[in-house]
Amino acid sequence: MKLFLDTANISDIKRLNGLGIVDGVTTNPSWVSRDSKGRSFKAIVQEICEEVKGHVSAEATAIDTEGMVKEAREISSWAQNVVVKLPTTEAGIRALKLLSHEGIKTNMTLVFSANQALLAGKLGATYVSPFIGRLYDAGYDGMQLVRDTVRIFRNYGFETKVLAASFREPREITAAAIAGADVATIRPEQMDQMIRNPFTDAGLKSFLESWEKMGNK
Ligand code: G3P
Repeated sequence: MKLFLDTANISDIKRLNGLGIVDGVTTNPSWVSRDSKGRSFKAIVQEICEEVKGHVSAEATAIDTEGMVKEAREISSWAQNVVVKLPTTEAGIRALKLLSHEGIKTNMTLVFSANQALLAGKLGATYVSPFIGRLYDAGYDGMQLVRDTVRIFRNYGFETKVLAASFREPREITAAAIAGADVATIRPEQMDQMIRNPFTDAGLKSFLESWEKMGNK
């Protein structure tokens, strides 16, 4: 499973990319707005695309098909590895059909049902993004959506990748991997949680204490 960082914070991206564990990045208008520091959307996306070799999702903000297609053409010209995120609405699905024919890479976002994912897969989206955490927040089984989508795409040989998003807990990342998600996009602090384990720290501390008792420093 690939791991993407779900952020527009370039410091976090550089820090974690240096570990060699970042396969790509997803942004959304909320992350870009939070970390823009007066810089343009284009400048932020291009800086991330230079730092990370894998796919970097940047979201179109128009809500009509014509506006989405125009934005998608513009965003896709910013870098070779950029992927245009579109909402999974009727307008977004119409835009997806046009953009797929143009060979523009797409990430259909805000997916909350397997039927939405099925439509995006049929139309050749590069990625679909089921929002697991928001489903759990509302009392639904978010991981079941990942399992169903993976199964449907396998049944029909769709090349669209399942990009699980909106994680709340580290154990959900494991569950997404077991479910066969192609990608999990996670917040920088969640990637930190994957690395660190208090038992590892406690074990290391006790080993070093034993070592020092032998007179070693
Ligand atoms: O990038 C989209 C998604 O990961 C947002 O997550 O936490 O706002 O539901 P969240």
